[in-house]
Amino acid sequence: MNRRDLLSSALALGGASLLPGAASAKAKPAGKFVEGTFPDGFIWGAATAAYQVEGAYREDGKGESIWDRFVLAPGKILNGDTGNVACDSYHRYAEDVALLKAMNLKSYRFSTAWTRIQADGTGPANPKGIDYYSRLTDALLEAGIRPLPTLYHWDLPQDLEDRGGWPNRDTAKRFADYADIMARALGDRIRDWSLFNESKAFTQIGYWQGAWAPGRKDPQAFFKATHTVNLAHGMGFKAMKAVNPKLQIGSVFDVSPQIASTDSDADKAAAVFMDKLSNLWFVQSVLTGAYPQGVLPADRQNEILGVLPGDDVLMRADLDFIGINYYSRTRVWDAQKPSGVPGLLLPDTEWAFGDHDKTDFGWDIYPQGFYDILKRMQAVTGNRPIEITENGAAYNIGPDAGGAIHDTKRIAYYKGHLDALSLAIHDGVPVRGYHAWSLMDNFEWAAGYSQRFGLTYVDFANGQKRTIKDSGHWYGQVAKTNRTA
Ligand code: FCB
Repeated sequence: MNRRDLLSSALALGGASLLPGAASAKAKPAGKFVEGTFPDGFIWGAATAAYQVEGAYREDGKGESIWDRFVLAPGKILNGDTGNVACDSYHRYAEDVALLKAMNLKSYRFSTAWTRIQADGTGPANPKGIDYYSRLTDALLEAGIRPLPTLYHWDLPQDLEDRGGWPNRDTAKRFADYADIMARALGDRIRDWSLFNESKAFTQIGYWQGAWAPGRKDPQAFFKATHTVNLAHGMGFKAMKAVNPKLQIGSVFDVSPQIASTDSDADKAAAVFMDKLSNLWFVQSVLTGAYPQGVLPADRQNEILGVLPGDDVLMRADLDFIGINYYSRTRVWDAQKPSGVPGLLLPDTEWAFGDHDKTDFGWDIYPQGFYDILKRMQAVTGNRPIEITENGAAYNIGPDAGGAIHDTKRIAYYKGHLDALSLAIHDGVPVRGYHAWSLMDNFEWAAGYSQRFGLTYVDFANGQKRTIKDSGHWYGQVAKTNRTA
């Protein structure tokens, strides 16, 4: 079972001085294309997320999140794993910053846990939560690394879920308050922020498919959740700009080329439909204030989503940059499946297919799709700078007798995707940065610790020892030389 197969189963830079030239990373470098080369000032980084690495799940006044709760339900997470300890980054963040530095990286994409800041999702900030992210920020800046926080990487305060969660439009207001707190607390040192991580993934898998927190299986709740999340984009963006208009606010979208299974008109139409629901539902709606047409029945769309007059203005955000996460492609075919929403019939989809090699997680390795989806998204996002906020692969190889991790397949994965990215940039897609997923092995949601995405090996059983893998050394050279060769 693959977590992506939802429908088939149901710079203006922070510290511009830190990163000279990055803001002007050229969309179209002059001269001949040399595969695997990147513009001067290109930003190299790595990513993690709070629940996946921090641990310390109830320290220093942290409240319970939907993931803290969800992992306790029997059978939800492979091997009964939890993020209670994870990589213990809450206590070991200095080691993590040292890893980034050792790999010559200049950007760290992490996420802030809402429940550390507001235990129940409301009210004044918890000073100890702010203090943790403040110390992390200072450690990064001192190491010459740009902090790139994401405010929401899926860990909703459980109390807000108990009040209706994302399907409840009041959650958008709560999010805007949290965004305001973060801008006030750290906006003096952090200039670039992402609002959400993968709005599609967490609403679909959490509220419709039920395989992730909060584990609901309700298509109507899913659509309401999507609208609240879009409202939260607009409201959070405006709240942060009101604190400081110079903050650069983006959001991270999970996208995948939707490939029709056959040349039939029905399958081609199914792929167009899925492109709207999967790739455009959030980014286009937030940028324009209007949902893509042709997904929901036009006469019932507002009712299904819970749209009120004025929401087009509320949800709108002229995002300063676009974060793109790319892992693989999607095959789509016409199926006319009842969705649980009257008037909405769905295609079928498959995430891993074809005779391409797969990662250890079973995900299709398809670098061409990276190029294709970047060109596709540029048609929607225009000249806004793009940052690749995630791309990477699970390979579960461990240390050899001497303790080294020879993960050559991960190197090949990265090289293939970076070469495709270099061509996209040459062909005019304004990508200014790239973050590998992930800095280190961590808690991979429903798959627990079974899938290792790290550039760094984490020995969870032996004191959390971190060892940079061969791929991490290789990536460090890419970051240093600005080329993959
Ligand atoms: C993305 C998530 C990230 C991680 C990678 C493998 O969908 O944003 O947290 O799980 O997949």
